[in-house]
Amino acid sequence: MATLAPRDRLIVALDLPTVREAEALVERLDDAVTFYKIGYQLAFERGLPFAAALAAAGKRVFLDMKLHDIGNTVARGVENVARMGVAFLTVHAYPQTMRAAVAASRGSGLQILAVTVLTSYDDADAAEAGYAGTVKELVAAKSRKAQEIGVAGIVCSPEEAGALRRILARETLLVTPGVRPAGADPGDQKRITTPAQAIRDGVDHLVVGRPIVAAADPSAAAEAIVAEIAAAAS
Ligand code: C5P
Repeated sequence: MATLAPRDRLIVALDLPTVREAEALVERLDDAVTFYKIGYQLAFERGLPFAAALAAAGKRVFLDMKLHDIGNTVARGVENVARMGVAFLTVHAYPQTMRAAVAASRGSGLQILAVTVLTSYDDADAAEAGYAGTVKELVAAKSRKAQEIGVAGIVCSPEEAGALRRILARETLLVTPGVRPAGADPGDQKRITTPAQAIRDGVDHLVVGRPIVAAADPSAAAEAIVAEIAAAAS
């Protein structure tokens, strides 16, 4: 991804209870951050109009809705998301769901990302959910299928990124949460990586929440990560 500027590779997760707090943080971060992720928490607190407003104001927005339903329902939903002007939308990596989402986003600026196996799942959880095979095998198989169907990218854990980069085409985006600058509090993240390591593993976009959102100086925290991305990418 030589064409992506280091700053545009950082996605800040706006994991805050209210839009009011998210707006204040975005204002504080100003030009330090170009890309934001909005998930369930904010979506259910007026976060969707806020996402559209952020996009209209020139930011890129990743709507992390992890959709999964019958194809027709997914397609109609994705068509409306595409009209919001956001850049990324997540769906679960089931073939019908991905096909419907990819078809409905075609011709718009919206790119579909697939979530393969939730990172909170281990092999026992996958077996309990009715899957055969290990999480590692499932992630590889579902990622290959997602690429074949034409999604723009895969959301993956830092642990999976290197292996996926080797099996997927270079243009398939890898988007990775669980990123912590050296010495930062991991919080509840069990598998973490530094920004530099993620870049070296071939990750295109890093999703970072608490190390920036909860920092005393969020802009300085974001700038430090952008600098680390730039150094690792050069
Ligand atoms: O605060 P932190 O940097 O851990 O935030 C990571 C963000 O990425 C959160 O919004 C979290 O929901 C999301 N995420 C994750 N692990 C996944 C998928 C999404 O941490 N497997």
